[in-house]
Amino acid sequence: MKLWGGRFTGETNEQVYQFNASIGFDKRFFEQDIRGSIAHAGMLAKQGIITAEEGQAIKNGLDSILEDIKQGRLAIDETAEDIHSFVEAELTSRIGEAGKKLHTGRSRNDQVALDMRLYTRDYIDSLDPVIRKLLGTLYRIMSENTQTYMPGFTHLQKAQPVTLAHHLGAYFEMFRRDRSRLADIRKRMNYCPLGSGALAGTTYPLDREYTAEVLGFDGPTLNSMDSVSDRDYIIELLSALATIMMHLSRFSEEIIIWNTNEYRFIEIDDAYSTGSSIMPQKKNPDIAELVRGKTGRVYGALMSMLTSLKGLPLAYNKDMQEDKEVFFDASDTVISCLELFDGMLATLRFNKENMLKSAAGGFTNATDAADYLVGKGVPFRDAHTIVGKLVLFCLKRNIALDEMSIEDYKAISPVFEPDVYDAISIRSCVERRNTIGAPGPEAMKKILEEYRKYL
Ligand code: ARG
Repeated sequence: MKLWGGRFTGETNEQVYQFNASIGFDKRFFEQDIRGSIAHAGMLAKQGIITAEEGQAIKNGLDSILEDIKQGRLAIDETAEDIHSFVEAELTSRIGEAGKKLHTGRSRNDQVALDMRLYTRDYIDSLDPVIRKLLGTLYRIMSENTQTYMPGFTHLQKAQPVTLAHHLGAYFEMFRRDRSRLADIRKRMNYCPLGSGALAGTTYPLDREYTAEVLGFDGPTLNSMDSVSDRDYIIELLSALATIMMHLSRFSEEIIIWNTNEYRFIEIDDAYSTGSSIMPQKKNPDIAELVRGKTGRVYGALMSMLTSLKGLPLAYNKDMQEDKEVFFDASDTVISCLELFDGMLATLRFNKENMLKSAAGGFTNATDAADYLVGKGVPFRDAHTIVGKLVLFCLKRNIALDEMSIEDYKAISPVFEPDVYDAISIRSCVERRNTIGAPGPEAMKKILEEYRKYL
């Protein structure tokens, strides 16, 4: 049954009907749609716009429809135009005349604006624990690896030694920010558009504050034209999702690098890798690669929404129906990427020996050799030049700084004493870095304590 047949005499072209219909995807928020309708009907009855009996009949009917869909006793009819038409038609067939009064003082424009807001708000609430779980995994691996040394990189070249705890702590910070970004969005979007009508409110004495409260909003939205055409919260949310994917993608890239034959920092668990059909030796980091790849698709959703909205005059335009499929796809993608990534991370094995060996190469302790000289009274700029000469000396002989003899050190600068070896050991390079946020054990202990409280 069409909600708008009265004005028409001809039939809708079949292809037009299919092109216009949204039931194929908006059936996903049947629960939010029904929840919104129950609140609306309750308010209509409270305001005397429909009778208390009608209000009760509508509520009972909607409750039973919701229960029947959830239990699989009622299939959503995909020939309906959208979920709103389906629920209303089903209600009327169950309770008769009263069902036809549900849509009093309401338009599908404010109805769909409400449904999408409820759905995205529920989504944020279900995404948060998934990110929190990943943070828990990071925290566990960090606490176990405060003494696991590895090279830190700049320009993908070995720079200074750090620990695995410190490296993973960077991702802890990123995902912690992601959670707080979602919380900000949730707060900003938590206003109820129901009661805005098609665009200009209604002539009925609706109590918008009441429905807003019943539905868990902080209040009603304040401009009915904006209410039916605002999709800012979807853009903000897609932007937050794109940022989560960017973080996951950078992390994936590192896992792929760490997993190469050249690095061998990690071993991915069999459960989280796949093989090659031709090369028997292969064990591929597919999950990390897929997460990196799917990032493009979530970025695409954000671009798609921004582009769909950019030329829209006020108020509602059918273009807005396009928000659903892109958002559903992006939001599903993010949850599955987070869950799989967490499983892969939780089962990774770290080859600590290889990591340490790698940290010891590439002159990652050169800065510390310069700091050693500074400790002996040499100005930093001169120390930098002296250590540059040491590096050149070592490069010619293909040795590391700690493999030079003390005589060779002294030949380049007489300031060097045998205590230089201790000063430039990887362990002391890390252990002496205890400024806030640094990898040293004292600094890391405080951070881990903070993370523990946070979790
Ligand atoms: N399916 C529509 C959407 O998703 C629902 C709103 C329809 N409103 C309208 N005036 N046709 O945006």
